[in-house]
Amino acid sequence: MNQSPLFANKNVLITGGTGSFGRAFAKNLLQEDVCNKVIIFSRDEWKQWEMRESEPIYSHPKIRFFLGDVRDKPRLERAFNEVHYVVHAAALKQVPAAEYNPSEFVKTNVIGGMNVIDAAIECGVERVIALSTDKAVNPINLYGATKLCSDKLFVAGNSYVGARGFPMFSVVRYGNVLGSRGSLIPFWRKLLNENAAFLPVTDSRMTRFWINLDEAINFVKLCFSVMQGGEIFVPKIPSMKITDLAEAMAPNFPLKTTGIREGEKLHELMIGTEDSRHTLEFKDYYTIIPEMYWKHQELMMKYKKNCITEKLAENFCYASNTNSQWLSTEELRKILLSI
Ligand SMILES: NC(=O)c1ccc[n+]([C@@H]2O[C@H](COP(=O)([O-])OP(=O)(O)OC[C@H]3O[C@@H](n4cnc5c(N)ncnc54)[C@H](OP(=O)(O)O)[C@@H]3O)[C@@H](O)[C@H]2O)c1
Repeated sequence: MNQSPLFANKNVLITGGTGSFGRAFAKNLLQEDVCNKVIIFSRDEWKQWEMRESEPIYSHPKIRFFLGDVRDKPRLERAFNEVHYVVHAAALKQVPAAEYNPSEFVKTNVIGGMNVIDAAIECGVERVIALSTDKAVNPINLYGATKLCSDKLFVAGNSYVGARGFPMFSVVRYGNVLGSRGSLIPFWRKLLNENAAFLPVTDSRMTRFWINLDEAINFVKLCFSVMQGGEIFVPKIPSMKITDLAEAMAPNFPLKTTGIREGEKLHELMIGTEDSRHTLEFKDYYTIIPEMYWKHQELMMKYKKNCITEKLAENFCYASNTNSQWLSTEELRKILLSI
């Protein structure tokens, strides 16, 4: 599907625009060069300066750098002036930091989400997509819990838009992004560069969903084009074993089991059994549709367009250990060469 016309002449704002996703998404839009403006919204002037200096594309005449905090609603309202689309990628996301600083995560991930919703409604933004994570499903850590709250807020946001019918709010949920800031690959690469004697592995049985940044960007763009408001979009992506990743990065290198960390799961879940009852399956993704929408047949018609399965198998869940798609060590090795 050609998604470009959707962004033609639009002003697109990315909260957390200096992060791994935001930078890549901004670059993609600027290279495509059909939108009117790309606005980077984040707190740290240094990261914005570093981003601008890092590649010529970030000095594109269509880019704007806007300092602001999602905790600050008036600032969001100023930033959202004449904005058509918002990708809400700003978040605090380090699991151990969340356990120690829960109130800070609530302020950014929950209150910040509420502010984005309210400001989008007040400023007449057309479409908003909030990024979520597999850690938001049956969360066992505070980070996941705040993202679950955020997901629920964005889905419910559609109820407050009134007769105008916009903004539409939807959520995109995916698993670990290969090579993103603070993730396992840069950590292990650093250890290998420092001639570490072993790679630490919390549990050799651990599995994770994996997506690369290009896939995440294309998926978010696809969701912008098909969203009706209220969906949680979940891409069909492969799983991998942590030990296969280690083997791909450093064949036959010693591994040391360090034990599962506080707030860490052995396997991740993208759609739980309870949510699967109100989930639709499409060729390349699933959409979780709020349970209360299912009572309204007419409303459901628009969500069901092009879906391949309206009723998933009893007890279906989309988990990293029971996934039907897997990345082999060989495939992981090839992927590692590209990031
Ligand atoms: N990376 C993954 O593996 C992964 C997987 C699934 C889902 N996600 C989700 O995807 C989104 C983007 O992740 P990412 O990897 O790009 O994160 P990231 O690299 O850590 O970037 C986070 C961005 O948010 C900004 N930010 C943080 N607090 C803010 C605040 N209070 N106000 C405004 N901006 C703020 C940061 O800039 P400043 O610090 O300068 O403000 C930065 O630009 C997040 O919602 C995350 O939960 C990520």
